[in-house]
Parts: sequence; structure tokens; C-alpha cells
Amino acid sequence: MRRKLAAGNWKMNGLAPAMNEADALQAAHRNTDIDILLCPPATLLHRLSGRLAGSPIATGGQDCHPAESGAHTGDISAAMLVDAGATHVILGHSERREDHGESSEDVRAKARIAIEAGLTAVICVGESETQRDAANTLDIIAGQLAGSIPDIANASNLVIAYEPIWAIGTGKVPTLDQIGEVHDFIRARLERRFGEGVGLSTRILYGGSVKPDNATDIFEVSNVDGALVGGASLKAVDFSLIIKALEAAGKH
Ligand code: 13P
Repeated sequence: MRRKLAAGNWKMNGLAPAMNEADALQAAHRNTDIDILLCPPATLLHRLSGRLAGSPIATGGQDCHPAESGAHTGDISAAMLVDAGATHVILGHSERREDHGESSEDVRAKARIAIEAGLTAVICVGESETQRDAANTLDIIAGQLAGSIPDIANASNLVIAYEPIWAIGTGKVPTLDQIGEVHDFIRARLERRFGEGVGLSTRILYGGSVKPDNATDIFEVSNVDGALVGGASLKAVDFSLIIKALEAAGKH
């Protein structure tokens, strides 16, 4: 069975006081039976990893460079993320694909080196509103999956996050049918490429305006194994409610 995963992406948010949110989260979920992941800005990663050591909350980076090391001012290598205590890294987020012109090929190269460094790659895919309106969603997702996932991926070093770009930070959420359609499609593509074993055990997260008040419904959708949460992961009270909704999913 797939273990559920609640992941928080703090994006470019968080100064030293944000550590208090992590403390509160840790206190509230000492005995959780799901996986919890926080991806803070790089400046907080080492501190946060130390603070959360021994707790069920893992930490991750938000990007890494495809090279092992070298003359790349301002970039962070996969080994540096590991050195700072990370076990995961988000790759190919739409904000990086847009703001930094990252192609799926770039994402694949980053994912390969991240996995080789021992990290789990959380690879993001998702369509724009224009692409959805033109009924191109599944084609876009298929292309991003084929292009972004390296051949060395398997169920323990890969997580897919479906994040429709138009739902990120907007308060707009796809219908449950729309989420289910894309998640089922991603599952089928993973099975086709990697075989049933890997395909059925790789986790697929939904991301895009997940909040305490819509999480329960989203977590009942088929092939939704958790969430990648932006804004609502910044406050422990909100993220904690989402984590509780995921803990409860499928149990009634
Ligand atoms: P929001 O939850 O703020 O919509 O962000 C989603 C996201 O981009 C997570 O990576």
C-alpha cells in the first residue's frame, strides 16, 4: 500500500520565527501514521532539519542544480541538500518552469542527480488554464511525465505532484472529477512506463489551493495519496488540520 504524504512547500517565505510553526507542527503530530514533509527556503533547511531530527517530519529542498558541483553562483547541489539534512527535493514546480524557464529535460537532469544523491524527487506537473480550456490537459501531463522523470526513478525515490497552474495560490480548485481524471491518468502512465509494481506504489499528490476546508473531499479522490500545500502550510494550525484530514482519509 502507498503511505500517505502531506508535504508543505514554503516557497520564498519564512525567516527565523517560522521555526515556531515547525515546533507546533512537531508537537501536534508526534504519533502520526502518515509521512509529513516540510520544504522551507534553503536558508532555513539546515536549521529546520536539526530542529525536526527524531520527529516524523522530514525536510526537503525546493530545487537543485543538475551538476554535482562547480561554478554555478547562487545554485544549490543535491549533495548540499543532503548535507543540510534533506531527504526530499521538489523539482519542476511550475514557478520554476515559468520563472526560470526550466524544461522537462532540465527537470529530468535534476531529478537524476537528486536520486543519485539519495534524495526522493517530488516532480511537479500541471497544465495552465489556457491548456485546460483547450482540452489539452492530459497531453500536457503526458509530455511532462515522459520528459521529467528519469529512468532510474522508482516508488521509493519518486513522488509525483499534480499541480494545475491555475489552482496555485488562487483559491480555485478543480472539481473532484477533474482531479480524479488526472490522477488516474498519471497512475496509468506510471504503470505503462515502469510496470505495475512501481506504477501502483508511487505516490501521487495533489497541489493547488489545498485548505483545511477542502482537504477532506480531495483526499477521498481515487489515486490521491496526499497533498503538496503552499500557503496553508505556512501556519501550523492550518497545515495540521490538513494533515489530520489526510490521517483520517479512507478510515471511515
Ligand atoms: P497553494 O497551496 O498556495 O495554492 O500552492 C500550491 C503549490 O504550489 C505547492 O507547491
